[in-house]
Amino acid sequence: MDLAQKILKLKKEKKAVILAHNYQRSEIQDIADYVGDSIELSRKAAQEKDAEVIVFSAVDFMAESAAILNPDKKVLLPCLGARCPMAQMLTVDEIKRAKTQYPKAPVVLYVNTLASCKAHCDVCCTSANAVEVIESLDAETILFGPDKNLAEYVSEKTGKNLISIPENGFCPTHLLFQPEDVTVLKIEHPDAKVIVHPECSSEMRRVADYVGSTSKMCRYAKESADNNFIVGTEEGIFHRLRKENPKKNFYLAYEGAICPNMKLTTLERLYSALKEEKNVVRVPQSVAKKARASLERMFEI
Ligand code: 13P
Ligand code: SF4
Repeated sequence: MDLAQKILKLKKEKKAVILAHNYQRSEIQDIADYVGDSIELSRKAAQEKDAEVIVFSAVDFMAESAAILNPDKKVLLPCLGARCPMAQMLTVDEIKRAKTQYPKAPVVLYVNTLASCKAHCDVCCTSANAVEVIESLDAETILFGPDKNLAEYVSEKTGKNLISIPENGFCPTHLLFQPEDVTVLKIEHPDAKVIVHPECSSEMRRVADYVGSTSKMCRYAKESADNNFIVGTEEGIFHRLRKENPKKNFYLAYEGAICPNMKLTTLERLYSALKEEKNVVRVPQSVAKKARASLERMFEI
């Protein structure tokens, strides 16, 4: 029996489900019960009834959200070191400081934040629903963190004044994309559509035909009549793009766009975490209660 088969057997014995983000390694996506973007995975985790264990193959903040939304389940993060550096860029102190400066402005936080920060915001959002969340608020000035690029994108779309907290939060992987690389790829593939994630810089968004969350990018590629796509997001998404569209061609806008944290989950680590039921994600109750309210507000919208 190979490792993937062993995991599937263990998964049945332990009544576990495996949720995997679109950036996970191909072999992890292949054994997962569900592969999706951060809002889809949160929703799946929240609605999970039958399983006793949720193996969350992604990074820290996503597994934390699952533990917050479904506190009766044991949520495992296969590698505890898988932390999103962008989520580490915002602290509770920073939110408190911004609130004293703009006492009337609501606080909206991208889900790429730690639970302790989510406990200090009015509502959360993901890249799939940030525009709708901001539009739903009866306010023109809004504190938004930690991704400055997503803040700029939403501000352009809604016309509202989004103040970034911290001033310059960013995703190190998405910052690697440069419009020059798209220009070069376009010489070889002039008819290719450019699809990018909103964590990319404004220069990248300007050369894009479509901007959306990872699952929205997959949907766009599937529904499009076009056959060639230049992709501005983490390379893990190629597994799903190619699986769902075997006849279409996908080109990564920059070959080095790899999120090292997303890649920390391996079959070996997942097997060991599930076998020993270790790396349980725990969020203190007082924090979880407030963070859950911010996440649930997002789902309502
Ligand atoms: P999605 O919600 O679009 O999957 O994005 C999560 C993320 O971390 C992007 O870098
Ligand atoms: Fe965080 Fe960027 Fe990795 Fe997404 S791709 S998990 S935002 S570091």
